[in-house]
Amino acid sequence: MFASNIGRKHGVTDQDLRVMSKSVSKAGHHLKSILSSSGNRIKLGLEWAMLPYQDRESTASIQEMGEDIAKQYDNVISLGIGGSYLGLKAAQDALASPYYNDFEPVRGGRPRIYFEGNNLDPDTLSVLLKNLDARRTFVIVISKSGETTETKAAFAVVENWLKNTCGPLYGRQIFAITDPKSGQLRSKVNAEQAKDGKSFRNLPVLSGVGGRFSELNIGLLHLAIIGVDIQEVLDGAKAMAKRCSQDNLFKNPAYMYAVLHTILYKKKGKPISIMMPFSETLKSTADWYSQLLAESLGKKYQRTVKPADSGTEEWIRNKKKAANLGRTPVSSRGTNDLHSIQQNNIEGENDKAITFLKIEKFVTDIEVSGTNDFLSGKYYSKLLATAEEATEWALVRESRPNCTMIIPKLTAYHWGEIIFFFEMATAFEGELLNVNAYDQPGVEGYKNYMYFKLRKPGISPVVSADIKKNPLIKAKKFII
Ligand code: PA5
Repeated sequence: MFASNIGRKHGVTDQDLRVMSKSVSKAGHHLKSILSSSGNRIKLGLEWAMLPYQDRESTASIQEMGEDIAKQYDNVISLGIGGSYLGLKAAQDALASPYYNDFEPVRGGRPRIYFEGNNLDPDTLSVLLKNLDARRTFVIVISKSGETTETKAAFAVVENWLKNTCGPLYGRQIFAITDPKSGQLRSKVNAEQAKDGKSFRNLPVLSGVGGRFSELNIGLLHLAIIGVDIQEVLDGAKAMAKRCSQDNLFKNPAYMYAVLHTILYKKKGKPISIMMPFSETLKSTADWYSQLLAESLGKKYQRTVKPADSGTEEWIRNKKKAANLGRTPVSSRGTNDLHSIQQNNIEGENDKAITFLKIEKFVTDIEVSGTNDFLSGKYYSKLLATAEEATEWALVRESRPNCTMIIPKLTAYHWGEIIFFFEMATAFEGELLNVNAYDQPGVEGYKNYMYFKLRKPGISPVVSADIKKNPLIKAKKFII
C-alpha cells in the first residue's frame, strides 16, 4: 500500500500520513469519548464494543444451552438476514469443519445447520422443508427488529411446518433472538412464553448493538451448537480490543487499516475495496465484511454532532449537501478468483485496494503425489502460500495497492480477533469520514416501496404520497 513499493501516485506516502495526523487524533478522541459513555454507546449504536467483555456466567449458560440443542436435534434451521445472518454464516464456514453438513464424522454428532430467511427464493425453502424431518429439527429465528419481511415470511412458513408435524408443543423447538422489548417477534415470544415457559425460549439482542455489529451477541448460540468455545472467540475479540484502543496510529492496527484505506480512497482514487481470503473457509467472513463496510460507511450525508440530554450526543444527517461517501466492497476468494477477476485487478482501472487474508498454518496438509513434474512432493499449503505471494508480487509490479492480514491459525480465538478488528476499523473510518456508521437509511427506500406494494398497514402517508407521485417507470421492453 505504501509509496515505497508502488510509487507515490498510487501508494501512501509518509507525507500522506502526516497530513492525516490531526484528523486521526480528532477521530480517536471522539470515538473514545463515545465508547467511554454507556449513554452514548447505547443511544448511538456502539455497544458492540463491549461484547468481548460479556459476563462469563451468561456465556457459559449459552454454551450449555447450545450443547443441549446439539444433543437433541439432527438439524438446525437458522432464520435471519443481513446482520442476523452473515456473521453466523461467516462463523460456520470459518470455525466448523469444511463439509460440516455433509459428513457425520466431521460433525461429530452435532446437527446440520441450514440458513434460510436470507432471501425470498421459494425453491430453497421448499426443498429444505420437504426433506427435513420436522421432529428432528430445531429452529432459531433471529431478527433485532422482529419485523423484517424475509425473516418474517420464512418464520411463518417454518412455524406452520413444525406445528403441523409436531403438534401443540412445537414451540419448544423454537428459539428466538430479538429485541428485548419491541417488535412483532418479541410480542409473539411473550405470548407463547405466557402459555408455556419451555416454548419460544429466547435471548435479547442487546440495546445499542446493531445488526452488522452483532455477531458476538446474536451468534453465540449458533457457535455453541456447532461446538465452538464461545469464550475463546470473546477472548480473541478482547485481545484485539486492547490493541485497538491505543492512541498511537502506528500501534493501533484498526486505526491504521482505516487511515490507509481512507487515504487510498480519498487521495489516490481507490473507491473499490476487494477482500480476498486465500482460503475457502474465510470467504463468508469477506461477505460479512462487505455488509459491515457498505451499510456502515456508504452514506449520502455526513453527520453533524450536537450535544444532547445527560451528556450524550446527537448525530444529525447534514442534508445541506449530499456527500455520497463510502468505499465499495467486493468479496472475493483466492485462488479461485485469480482465474477470473484478477485480470481486471491487474490490468483494469487502478481504482482498487485489495486486502488478502492469509492463514499461516492449516489444520491439515496434502502432499501432491502421482505426478512427475514440479508439483511432485509439494504441499498444498506451500502452493497456496506461493499463489498468495505471487498475487501480491503481480499487483505490486503494476502499482496496485494491497495488504495482507496474516492469521497464524484459523482458531476461534483468532476469528474473534478478526471480527473485532474489522468492526473497530469500520467505526474509526466512520469517524474519519464523519458519517453515522450505525444507521442504514438507504435500505429503507426499497422496504417502503415493498410495504406499499404489499399493502402493509401503518405505512406513513408521506411515504405513500412520495411513491404515488414518483412511480417506477420502466423502459420499453425489448424481446430478444
Ligand atoms: O445491520 C443491520 O442493521 C441490518 O443489516 C439488519 O441486520 C438486517 O436488516 C436485519 O434486520 P433484523 O435483525 O431487524 O431482522
